[in-house]
Amino acid sequence: MESTYNLQTYLDIATEAALAAGQVLQDYWGNLNQVEEKGRSGDLVTNADRASEKVILEIIQRHFPDHSVLAEESGQQGEAQAEYLWAIDPLDGTTNYAHQYPIYAVSIGLIINGVPEVGVVYNPAQGELFRAATGLGATFNRRPMRVSTTKTLEDSLLVTGFAYDRRETEDNNYAEFCYLTHLSQGVRRSGSAALDLAAVASGRIDGYWERGLSPWDMAAGMVLVREAQGEVTAYDGGDVSLAAGRVVASNQVLHQQLTEALSNTPPIKIKLS
Ligand code: IPD
Ligand code: CA
Ligand code: CA
Ligand code: CA
Repeated sequence: MESTYNLQTYLDIATEAALAAGQVLQDYWGNLNQVEEKGRSGDLVTNADRASEKVILEIIQRHFPDHSVLAEESGQQGEAQAEYLWAIDPLDGTTNYAHQYPIYAVSIGLIINGVPEVGVVYNPAQGELFRAATGLGATFNRRPMRVSTTKTLEDSLLVTGFAYDRRETEDNNYAEFCYLTHLSQGVRRSGSAALDLAAVASGRIDGYWERGLSPWDMAAGMVLVREAQGEVTAYDGGDVSLAAGRVVASNQVLHQQLTEALSNTPPIKIKLS
């Protein structure tokens, strides 16, 4: 059984790593000299992603040499089924960053026995730090944060995203995006899943859903939403599978309306060539 003392320590070290990585991202801003595709068209990686990840790994591995890590750019180190697994996204919002659209974040989550328990999401461009750990509450720039109180989809502002495989599958979220746009006051697309979850946790956005996510996109943000009194589930309302990568997050009040809308989304025909 994890003691709250330890969770606080993990939270503090994750914060130290996120702040250091955020500084690296700001230093590289406007000075990118490597922007490469990772295989799929539009799936980019830059020297800033790699430099940020290096700084995070150095801090996490120095403090917790026995823990496993799963980092987007360097992959898995240590046992995948380890008791402690750090899920690290050194730059969430790479497409934005590479285009110099200043919406991006560092996301660091600690998964303990398969459950995300500690999360830090840092948006260095806006100086916004979101932190949470199970039982310790959630904060935005060190002040308590809470989800919104919006009661109906009709009154809600939502956000979603589209994975890099969207051109290769019909399960690409286009129909859901149209349907929820129709039912709500609007659906935004920020380009950073971690910031989308932080936006739900801080009450700026009422609900979020996305498919095709990786553990490093969502582990930290899931803790933020839960500790801010929101709800995070799979599309069917059941437990989130980090491996399946589908998540619905909301202020809790809206949750059922959102999961129902997702399961009742009518098919739409868009002809793309
Ligand atoms: C991406 C962002 C984006 C989401 C994609 C992610 P990256 O992460 O979070 O919002 O829609 O599915 O892969 O590649 O910028 O770290
Ligand atoms: Ca990401
Ligand atoms: Ca990334
Ligand atoms: Ca990426």
